[in-house]
Amino acid sequence: MVKVIGLCGSLRDSATSEKALKLALAAAQSAEAEVEYLDFKQMHLPFCHGGEDYSEYPDVAVLQAKVKAADALLISTPEYHGSFSGVLKNALDLLGFEELTDKVIGLISVLGGAQNSNALNDLRTVSRWVHAWVVPEQVAIGQAWKQFDEQGQLIDPKLAERIEKLAFSVVDTAKKLR
Ligand SMILES: Cc1cc2nc3c(=O)[nH]c(=O)nc-3n(C[C@H](O)[C@H](O)[C@H](O)COP(=O)(O)O)c2cc1C
Repeated sequence: MVKVIGLCGSLRDSATSEKALKLALAAAQSAEAEVEYLDFKQMHLPFCHGGEDYSEYPDVAVLQAKVKAADALLISTPEYHGSFSGVLKNALDLLGFEELTDKVIGLISVLGGAQNSNALNDLRTVSRWVHAWVVPEQVAIGQAWKQFDEQGQLIDPKLAERIEKLAFSVVDTAKKLR
């Protein structure tokens, strides 16, 4: 069974990027993947200092081990100042080639303004640097504050379908790469 880890770049309660991620993880699960959301709100992660010793922060080892053991990642981020969030960049900096090389990655961004691909393109660059495989499908959700209903579902069925297709592509690609 393919294992998919979800990572989210927002620490906000009721974050729209987290809602989108949960929909993508549910779709991956429906495609028979084993899924786990690593919620950074529940983890105690330090800033990446560029060294090796994070023994005072056991969650770094948890993050590294879980990502290393997974086949794929679904990553969802808010757009902050035209890119992806610092929370997410820091988490990715705590990981390296050992955990990320050959990982299949699916990308989602949410924005307060109109949808664009800034954060997604920057995440593609970072992913290439660590030799991960980003699937061609991606989803950017503009004006994210008005896109979800009270149950956390996307109101626009076309956007919901795009999230599903992204998740299916991640699971399918991970199976092929195995
Ligand atoms: C520091 C910061 C920078 C932001 N920069 C942008 C931006 O460049 N473009 C944009 O459309 N929205 C921007 N926003 C708005 C967020 O992308 C938007 O509120 C998003 O839905 C927040 O994601 P979340 O609901 O997952 O927390 C910014 C918000 C913050 C806090």
